[in-house]
Amino acid sequence: MEKIILTGDRPTGRLHLGHFVGSLRRRVELQNSGEFSKIFIMIADAQALTDNADNPEKVRQNIIEVALDYLSVGIDPEKSTILIQTQIPELCELAFYYMNLVSVSRVQRNPTVKTEIQMRGFEKSIPMGFFSYPVSQASDITAFKATTVPAGDDQAPMIELTREIVNRFNNIYGPTLVEPEILLPESAACMRLPGTDGKAKMSKSLGNCIYLSDSPKEVKKKVNSMYTDPEHLTIDMPGHLEGNCPFIYLDAFATDEQVRRYLPDYDSLQALKDHYTRGGVGDGTVKKLLINVLEELLVPIRERRAYWEQRIPEVYEILRKGSEKARETAAQTLDEVRAAMKINYFADADLIKSQAAKYGK
Ligand code: TRP
Repeated sequence: MEKIILTGDRPTGRLHLGHFVGSLRRRVELQNSGEFSKIFIMIADAQALTDNADNPEKVRQNIIEVALDYLSVGIDPEKSTILIQTQIPELCELAFYYMNLVSVSRVQRNPTVKTEIQMRGFEKSIPMGFFSYPVSQASDITAFKATTVPAGDDQAPMIELTREIVNRFNNIYGPTLVEPEILLPESAACMRLPGTDGKAKMSKSLGNCIYLSDSPKEVKKKVNSMYTDPEHLTIDMPGHLEGNCPFIYLDAFATDEQVRRYLPDYDSLQALKDHYTRGGVGDGTVKKLLINVLEELLVPIRERRAYWEQRIPEVYEILRKGSEKARETAAQTLDEVRAAMKINYFADADLIKSQAAKYGK
């Protein structure tokens, strides 16, 4: 069977290192692997509006930021179709039909939705649109007949719900939709990058992010103020690795080759960790290594961003063309859905004939 990717991000801010390790890095690898016949990358502005209804300007401004971040990490519009969710109205129609296949309590049990309701203070009054975004996400995925959704583990409940909708739909209306699979990040270090403050998640609202578009100065400042081991007061004292941000980031980004190049005394990251745990390595040394490693990663990303920042109208053109192309695919799926649900009345000559026969004509 042909393999198709769909994945996306809400345009509520610039993308950061958490997005990079959690999904962007993998997307570029998958894009260049040649294993997938189609790749769709969605800027999920409709989903962003489900909890930003009063702030459409924020969503509008961040569409270009997310697009620039995509292009700067190496998403290639020749290989991947970048689309804007609201430009594909077929997605809304699909979601409206899928809502009949999902119970309220099913969505209430979704752990990601639960956390978001808490974080946004929606406990007392949940907007309908926000509550139904997992169903709309099922439309995003199925409209493109995606087989593969590369995403972080917080998206697992959405993919699970999508599979349930697909199964219910196909059972009731006949085989039409494709069941997707989530493709999780490869290693534990990539599952979820903590914020620079040591909190579990890098998140814009917590103000603990390193953005892909941060300047070298900002990166340096953020790394130098990172949470390490509060009990590691002097260089000689034994240090702890657990919850120690620079080490967690090194796990996610550094190769042993880089460790050897920047710190010739150590032949691997493990050797540095061992010495740190025994005592004798200062946090400054670890942070300096991390700054070097991050800069190696970020320099080409910044260069590509600067290139596209000088070509904004061209970027919008990429988004327009991508959305147009994506819409053709979604419209095709919607036709199939309408036919399966038998709501394609005017395309169904048998229906008209049999109704006429009922009345003797
Ligand atoms: N829910 C995703 C997020 O919060 C964004 C998203 C929308 C998405 N539609 C999708 C992800 C479809 C994967 C597949 O970042």
